[in-house]
Parts: sequence; structure tokens; C-alpha cells
Amino acid sequence: MEDLINLMTKYVNKEFKILDDKFSIFINKKIFEPNLTTMMLIDSAKKIIRKDDKVLDLGCGSGVIGCYLYKKKIIKYIYGSDISRQAVNCARYNSKKLTKNYDIRLSDSFSNWRNEKFELIINDISGISSQINNISKWFKHAPNNSGSDGTKFTIRLLKEYKKKQFYNAGLIFPVLGLSNREKIINFLKKNNLNYEILIKKEWPLPKDLVMHRDFLKKLKKEKKINYTEKFSILFTTTEIFYLNSH
Ligand SMILES: C[S@@+](CC[C@H](N)C(=O)[O-])C[C@H]1O[C@@H](n2cnc3c(N)ncnc32)[C@H](O)[C@@H]1O
Repeated sequence: MEDLINLMTKYVNKEFKILDDKFSIFINKKIFEPNLTTMMLIDSAKKIIRKDDKVLDLGCGSGVIGCYLYKKKIIKYIYGSDISRQAVNCARYNSKKLTKNYDIRLSDSFSNWRNEKFELIINDISGISSQINNISKWFKHAPNNSGSDGTKFTIRLLKEYKKKQFYNAGLIFPVLGLSNREKIINFLKKNNLNYEILIKKEWPLPKDLVMHRDFLKKLKKEKKINYTEKFSILFTTTEIFYLNSH
């Protein structure tokens, strides 16, 4: 059945620059395209993963993170999940081209991994203000459950992570300037979740957002997003946070 679905789905093979490599995956317009956060998560994961670690790619989209790490022999098995059926099909399609060693599940957050334990969880589930979502083309085909200040999913994830089963795993996740970063930090501190920031990058907001300058100003005032202005260019940040309980 899955083979039939994939036969009927038109994927295009697209090449992405990942760190110093070129890496191609099959993708289509309904699947989230790897972006700066993808690259930063891969870069962070590469530094953290120890030999034989069992690693979960949560919000795997096309499966790019797991496939890249597998191809580079950093992991031996691809575990991934996504809430989108189309993303799951695509991630399985890409994984199958590389290996038989994969387990990609349809899952809302951790819900379908209840009986599994991991050494590292790489979370890439959308964490930007849903109000940005409405004016941006990025999330056109990817669900964003993060609420108007972009923190809802991250805080839900952190609460789930704290439960015994996942608490022994390391967790890496992005915190974007297009969300209420302070709220996430306050949650971490309040819950004694020690974190380090592995990578931070500043990047200019794209034209399709900048054209809504007044709206962005309003969101910033409401502490739903943050950015700085330098020479009329608006810059925001992406940071990769790491919680390490072991
Ligand atoms: C920003 S994209 C990242 C995709 C991929 N990791 C990449 O780098 O290209 C986030 C992914 O999370 C998925 N997602 C959103 N909410 C989710 C949830 N509650 N549970 C699981 N996956 C979710 C979306 O379908 C989307 O594929």
C-alpha cells in the first residue's frame, strides 16, 4: 500500500547544502523544506551523538536529519516521526532508499513512542508565533501548534520530556527569535531544567515578512517575537538549546 502511495506521489530530488556537504533528498511542495534550523540541529547533533546512541528525529518532515546522520555513519538506525501523514510517507521513502534500518511513525509529539527509550531526541517541531505563520510562506504545508507567541509546543514538549521515560535522554531543540524566548527560558528555570545553548545564529528576516513591518512591531511590543534593527534590516535569531540529563 505504501509503495503504491509513493508511486502516486510525485517527489523531486532536491540538493541542499548541509554543513560542508551537498545532500539530496526527495521532497515535494507539501513537505517542509530543510532550512537553517535543520542545518543547525544537524551540526549540534553531530557533536553530541555518541557511538550506538539511539536517536529520535521528532518532527522529521522529509526525514532529512535522520537520513543525513545515517549517511554520515553517525547513527545506525533512523527513528523519526511526524504528525503529518505526507511527511511520514516522504521520510519513509527517503529512508528506504538508504537502508532497511528505519522506524518512522505517524505521531503527535511523543504519543507513538511510549514504549521506546532514546539517548538523544532531536526536536524540530515548529516553534514560531502562529501570527507569523499567517504572513509567511514557510509553514504553508506544515502544521504549527505553537500558539500566538510560538511557545505552546515547546512547553508541551518540555513537560512531556520531564516524564520519566524521556528524561534520561538528551534533548536538543531550536528556540527562535520569532517566539517568546524569555517564556521558554523562564519555564526551563522554574522546572530546574539545566540547559546550554550550543549554537546561535542571527539572520535577516525575509522580504515577505519585512513588508509587514507595522505588524511585526506590534508582535514585538506584545513580546510574541523579538528582532533587532540594524541599518533598516531586521535581524532575528535561531538558537539550539541542549538539555542533558545523563
Ligand atoms: C520545521 S518542520 C521540520 C522538518 C524537518 N525536520 C526538516 O528539518 O526539514 C517541523 C515538522 O514538525 C511537524 N509537526 C508539527 N507539529 C507536530 C506535532 N505535534 N507532532 C509531530 N510533528 C509535528 C510538521 O509536520 C513538520 O514536518
